[in-house]
Amino acid sequence: MDNEKVKEAAELIRKAKYAVAFTGAGISVESGIPPFRGRDGLWEKYDPIFLEIEYFKKKPLASWMKIKEVFYDMLQDAKPNLAHQVIAKMCERGFVESVITQNIDSLHQEAGSRYVYELHGTHKQLVCTECQSEYHINFADFDFLPPTCFVCKGILKPDIVFFNEPIPQFAKSRSFAEAEKSDVFIIVGTNAEVYPANEIPVAAKNSGAIIIEVNIKESHFTNSITDIFLQGKATEVFGRIGELLYL
Ligand code: APR
Repeated sequence: MDNEKVKEAAELIRKAKYAVAFTGAGISVESGIPPFRGRDGLWEKYDPIFLEIEYFKKKPLASWMKIKEVFYDMLQDAKPNLAHQVIAKMCERGFVESVITQNIDSLHQEAGSRYVYELHGTHKQLVCTECQSEYHINFADFDFLPPTCFVCKGILKPDIVFFNEPIPQFAKSRSFAEAEKSDVFIIVGTNAEVYPANEIPVAAKNSGAIIIEVNIKESHFTNSITDIFLQGKATEVFGRIGELLYL
């Protein structure tokens, strides 16, 4: 980790008028949640077809069995790590205004971040595919799959964005607005492969924001929009940033 660059980044965050964080699976790897791509990525192990919306409609049980194995069993014990915690402290102290995340693990909220825009939804909520009733996952009995609606017996779906589903309008419009308003935009742990999420940091760049990127290796952003690339694990980099900002 290049300490001089981390110091420069911390100073930019401290002086920022409107800093925004944008996170991907990489920020949660040190909470025990594997990324999607790369050596230990979930898509190296599982065929993502089970998260494709037409597949889910045709084979809800097969899809739910994989969803439970890949997400719910894995996420139930995950806790925020130092990177989530430092970002939450930066939000609390006013250094960072909001967090835009591609993650569905709700670890930013658990760490204490208040304004979190979940581009790909959340595993914490289920929605009925028939009557649109919404349930906290506490209501779901995962011993009987697929979970069904208490109101109409319709099949419940995790309130996450499946492949070939649109991003929720609220999260999408607010995220672009936050990016365009930012003067410092902090990208953490994303490969930048997934559209339209990967358009949001570009919108920040085009609006004049300075782009700080934290990743263990280069992403599709690094040699295109990134101004300061902090190569290292999210917890190491944010641990240092937290010290420099006296959080
Ligand atoms: N610290 C920082 N970055 C890390 C760490 C770490 N400890 N570990 C991995 N990374 C980086 C990887 O180098 C990679 O660039 O995190 C990134 C993870 O990339 P992906 O697994 O592709 O995750 P993400 O970019 O969030 O994927 C976007 O794809 O499958 C869909 O909906 C899913 O939201 C997800 C979207």
